Amino acid sequence: MKERKILVIGSINMDLVTQTNIVPKVGETVLGTSFFTIPGGKGANQAVAASKLGADVTMLGCVGDDAFGQELMQNLSDQGVTTNYIKTVPNASSGIASITLSEGDNSIIVVPGANHELTPDMVRENEKIIADANIILLQLEIPIESVKLSIELASKHSVPVILNPAPIQSLPKELLLQATYITPNEHEQESLLLNGELTEEESEQVKQKCIVTQGSQGVLIYQKKEELIPGYKVKAVDSTGAGDTFNGALAVSLSKGVALKEACQFANAAAALSVTKLGAQSGMPTLEEVEKFIAQV
Ligand code: RIB
Repeated sequence: MKERKILVIGSINMDLVTQTNIVPKVGETVLGTSFFTIPGGKGANQAVAASKLGADVTMLGCVGDDAFGQELMQNLSDQGVTTNYIKTVPNASSGIASITLSEGDNSIIVVPGANHELTPDMVRENEKIIADANIILLQLEIPIESVKLSIELASKHSVPVILNPAPIQSLPKELLLQATYITPNEHEQESLLLNGELTEEESEQVKQKCIVTQGSQGVLIYQKKEELIPGYKVKAVDSTGAGDTFNGALAVSLSKGVALKEACQFANAAAALSVTKLGAQSGMPTLEEVEKFIAQV
């Protein structure tokens, strides 16, 4: 049986992944070990993570009218994500991420392409699916004005929002104050709280809604007091998409009414499993896999 409705408003990229034992310095050429193209994008990854965990997921996004666009759309549909609200933008390239993978860690350059065509007008035209959602997931690989309007409309319809502030950039304070949960890593949280527009009181409000991801260590939450929800140690093959799996799984759990602490434990387990395979989406677990993993640990 499908769970409650999750709407992801965000990016869809093709990941161009190079594996190498040596990461080149500026001006240096090195020989890599392998190359592959695989669907990614923070928005699409979060949508797939939630769908694999059994949620009813709809994605609002854009792809280009190129071969990558067709492949990305097909992949989302194969993963059970509703793609009716994804626009194919004429004469645009699909978003890509150039990823260098070395010893399980990565560095990424994103070229947004068609993702930048997810305009505030497109968000406004889709207010109905915002109003119908049980929870909304947002990241920062689409125009900030569109993220801001999405949060405003979600707040108008009392729909909770998880904002994953990645890649980090300076954000209007209303956006931070209206989001229900914010899921930065430590560096992103520091940058958010340095936002000069926030008063001391507002900065504290923003901190209270943060769920700070710390890799395999777990996540920090601030309910009555600061608390670390410990993560799981696994052998990491590729950490790409671990944060996205965390966000997708968190949305699934929260949409079922699970308390924040337990939702974070579940999302930590899903994220741990996701790093055991190559590619952002390949290692994302099913609900049964997460439950089995938690039971074993
Ligand atoms: O979070 C990982 C994702 O970031 C990759 O899939 C890549 O597309 C970039 O958007």
